[in-house]
Amino acid sequence: MSELNNAMAKAFEVLDRKNEEALLGGGEKRIEAQHKKNKLTARERVELLLDKGSFEEIGKFVMHRCKDFGMDKEHYLGDGVVTGYGTVNGRIVYVFSQDFTVFGGALSETNAEKIIKVMELATKNGAPIIGLNDSGGARIQEGVLSLAGYADIFYRNTLASGVIPQISAIMGPCAGGAVYSPALTDFIYMVENTSFMFVTGPNVVKTVTHEDVTSEELGGAATHSTKSGVAHFTAPDEVACINGIKQLLSYIPQNCEEQPPVLPYEIQGEELRPVLNTIIPESPNQPYNMLEVIEGIVDDNSFYQVATNYAENIVVGFARLAGRSIGIVANQPAVLAGVLDKNASVKAARFVRFCDCYNIPLLVLEDVPGFMPGTDQEWNGIITHGAKLLYAFCEATVPRITVITRKAYGGAYDVMNSKHIGADMNFAWPTAEIAVMGAAGAAEIIFKHEIQSADDKVAKLQEKVDEYTTKFANPYRAAHRGYVDEVIKPEDTRRKLIRSFKMLENKVSNLPRKKHGNIPL
Ligand code: HXC
Repeated sequence: MSELNNAMAKAFEVLDRKNEEALLGGGEKRIEAQHKKNKLTARERVELLLDKGSFEEIGKFVMHRCKDFGMDKEHYLGDGVVTGYGTVNGRIVYVFSQDFTVFGGALSETNAEKIIKVMELATKNGAPIIGLNDSGGARIQEGVLSLAGYADIFYRNTLASGVIPQISAIMGPCAGGAVYSPALTDFIYMVENTSFMFVTGPNVVKTVTHEDVTSEELGGAATHSTKSGVAHFTAPDEVACINGIKQLLSYIPQNCEEQPPVLPYEIQGEELRPVLNTIIPESPNQPYNMLEVIEGIVDDNSFYQVATNYAENIVVGFARLAGRSIGIVANQPAVLAGVLDKNASVKAARFVRFCDCYNIPLLVLEDVPGFMPGTDQEWNGIITHGAKLLYAFCEATVPRITVITRKAYGGAYDVMNSKHIGADMNFAWPTAEIAVMGAAGAAEIIFKHEIQSADDKVAKLQEKVDEYTTKFANPYRAAHRGYVDEVIKPEDTRRKLIRSFKMLENKVSNLPRKKHGNIPL
């Protein structure tokens, strides 16, 4: 090995010392405090996320420029955020990880510049960006400079939206500005008990609205995954959270120009799944679990559900079919009979749009009695929210296939990826009922006078219900018209879908030229 001259040896010493200092963030004591809260440090999280040894850091020696409030005497190399790139299962990702040990991970002007640098690199190079958030919000000592930093990030989030996947993990408190960047990204993960998201914390809430609420109740993982729908995934701890991100990445492409990754798969005979023949109950009013249908169709253990505990009357998630990624939107008859309400509509609409951004074909499994009636729904905008789902499907240009398993009633028939709004293939099981409404309701309306004037009203009603059922509560009227391409036995569903998606893999569909549409927000 060649000898270093003195100057070079000294320079190396300085560099090594600085590198060591940067690795310590806000110092050993604060690292210990972080661990005591069951939280990992920013660097430990990056190491967990990325393939071993693949992390390359950018901006390790950046320092803040603030001179107010004694800040000129307090500097930490890296300034509270670790940024760079590496690989997850061999594929490049860009990452920023906020360091709570440095000013509580609060966002400064320079800290924002570092985040923006990796966001821009990610966007230019077409790779996902992952934000590991653990921050007290705007760095209070920097005032408007910090607010400007947030706005600069929000702007980049928006420009990158639909170009590269953006994933946020909330791994500590995220207050004020710290919540809006994640909200602009595609998916939010939260860690149970150690992460919070709120615009204003419990103290401000108490002052303004006089409500007594804990941080957990106001903005913990349970709240955001069940009540608000802000968080798409929760995890019991940080390791599970990071593993979840890796799983999500396995279904999605690097950017909007790429196709999703394909796993090797060999077609096995007829791909029959007889288990699907026994799921639909005898009575049309009896619920069943749509997850069983999904599991029966997709590759073994490949379903990764999104927003599992929010608006459970609709199920959305990623899966693989013969090794290829698909996005699934399915009514869930086991919850509220699978009705479409405002939350379900918004949940599904956002998922459809994500899949369409990133070339992930869509499978819709339909069993829906219609839109939810009532003042709560109407006064809270079911019309606008339902229209979001309608709009999202109408606009989606990825391959789109629907399977009607049972009910397809009313407006919900149209909305749930019907042929009329651009679905490529529409299948129905023989148990499908495609009608304006259920037979009982329909008979009571259209045969009202006949029923009222009958001697035996009950018998007359039943006769009319049977008549309506024979005419409409089946898939054949729709199949005669070609609205349904084929009525299939449930056991054949997997094979039909594998072949149909293969047939559609080179689909090209362009929307009319426009600046952008105006989705009913
Ligand atoms: C500067 C901050 C800070 C901040 C925390 N710290 N938040 N420094 N700016 N925003 C520092 C603390 O001084 C402390 O420094 C260290 O980080 C850890 O904070 P603690 O309070 O000791 O930790 P903890 O008890 O765990 O509480 C964490 C916290 C709390 C819940 C985040 O610190 C907090 O409420 N911070 C303020 C949150 C907030 O109001 N932010 C502004 C939001 S407004 P030492 O030296 O002791 O380690 C906003 C506007 C943007 O973001 C709007 C854009 C749309």
